[in-house]
Amino acid sequence: MSTRRLAPDAVQPQSFAFTSENQAFAEATIAKYPAGRQASAVIPLLFRAQEQEGWLPRAAIEHVAVMLDMPVIRALEVATFYFMFKLAPVGTAAHVEVCGTTPCMLCGSEAIIAVCKNMISPAAHTVSADGKFSWEEVECLGACSNAPMVQIGKDYYEDLTPESFAQLLEAFGRGEHPRPGPQNQRFASEPLGGATSLRDAALAEPVNASIALAEAEPRR
Ligand code: FES
Repeated sequence: MSTRRLAPDAVQPQSFAFTSENQAFAEATIAKYPAGRQASAVIPLLFRAQEQEGWLPRAAIEHVAVMLDMPVIRALEVATFYFMFKLAPVGTAAHVEVCGTTPCMLCGSEAIIAVCKNMISPAAHTVSADGKFSWEEVECLGACSNAPMVQIGKDYYEDLTPESFAQLLEAFGRGEHPRPGPQNQRFASEPLGGATSLRDAALAEPVNASIALAEAEPRR
């Protein structure tokens, strides 16, 4: 876990504003809460600001605090607490969060991290020379049965090998958005040797629900 500090002033933009689409999202989200409880919308608004900018600048945090009529320090507390908020610029094509907790470590996450060091940057939280990639090690992301795995944006890429992970990075580098989910042809988290029940192919969906949701959502 890295120290949770704002990026240096030199990289901070002077101002922030939501796009019209994201402004509409923010207003609709705020409207879900009773009067006086607008601060409950702080996480979705910060996250949308991050999706818009690629990372979360100080100006965006301050902007969200003003929108929600809450002290800036309260918004800063939220933004600096959760590691999902990226407080410094990340790669423009992909910021890779590699799970390094025990099940993923036992299944090969150290080899995945080695690929990050080789293809992106020797040190975590460092943008690659071409500006496209960055990486960090994170704690369990709740996909242990598909270890080792990484999160890129909102998507999980699971059942990785160093080779399949390197191919993913190459695809992101070309501007593609590879299909998330298991990268070893597993449907979801059924046994590696194949499903032992519910094997009627006529009833099977083409992809699991997580992949279907990821592909249905617009990319931001
Ligand atoms: S240990 Fe990696 S997802 Fe749980």
